[in-house]
Amino acid sequence: MAASLNTAEVMANTSYPSNKTPFLIGVTGGTASGKSTVCDKIMEQLGEDSVANRERRVVCIPQDSFYRSLSPEEIALAFKGNFDFDHPTAFDEDLMANTLIDILEGKTVRVRQYNYKENTVGESEETVYPADVVLVEGILVFYFKQIRDLFHMKLFVDTDSDTRLARRVVRDVKERNRDLETVLNQYTKFVKPSFEEFCQPTKKYADVIIPRGADNNVAIDLIVQTIKDLLQNPRIRSSSPLSPPPNLAAQM
Ligand code: ADP
Ligand code: C5P
Ligand code: MG
Repeated sequence: MAASLNTAEVMANTSYPSNKTPFLIGVTGGTASGKSTVCDKIMEQLGEDSVANRERRVVCIPQDSFYRSLSPEEIALAFKGNFDFDHPTAFDEDLMANTLIDILEGKTVRVRQYNYKENTVGESEETVYPADVVLVEGILVFYFKQIRDLFHMKLFVDTDSDTRLARRVVRDVKERNRDLETVLNQYTKFVKPSFEEFCQPTKKYADVIIPRGADNNVAIDLIVQTIKDLLQNPRIRSSSPLSPPPNLAAQM
């Protein structure tokens, strides 16, 4: 990854036009691998977490905003840990794809806020203003081809599964209003098998794998540096999501 520091120099001599198309970075990995924490650290190190929404040059969107609405019967199952939130069908693929396409076209979009305590996409929405770099994080951001192809850079947060389970239990009990038995049942029945079937295989699409997640300060520093390069040198941002600058990923 060390060579990424030369990205700006390498790309400055190319003919990619400067434009408002944001650079889209996908961040995936299993549940509780540290995706959200890695993105928070990136935003913090860039100083973007303390910037007003409208002024942000870097924004982060969680994939949970694109969970589909559930029927009352499905919500009842969810409360018992009997709904598979880790299966691709739990997501509204087209809503996510269309939102990302709007973002790539420089449009302001509204993104729904997910409520884990209620297992629903809430009424509240967040406005996402045009930015230079957009991070999109979630368990299945590289699963759907039409969405995967939109990313200029793909990251996979790779954390040991025992560590992930331990962190998930603590987080879900503390922050997502779950009880231990429900978390463990859901994990065994849905989370682990779906991870193995749908999330883990998307590692092969990653440009950069981040072992140990948020503990990996070296990887996070390199990603932050790459984003700084992108912000300072608009020419290294691609004009089209479907034709990212060649070799950019290879520089990492
Ligand atoms: P993800 O978004 O991949 O599900 P999170 O970032 O929410 O993962 O992390 C899961 C839980 O583990 C959270 O409670 C978070 O605070 C904690 N966590 C994440 N990374 C670390 C770490 N490196 N050390 C200790 N706890 C961590
Ligand atoms: O942040 P994280 O990647 O862990 O979020 C995805 C996880 O959230 C999935 O593994 C899914 O099982 C869980 N989830 C849940 N309840 C919901 C929605 C998602 O437990 N209502
Ligand atoms: Mg998360």
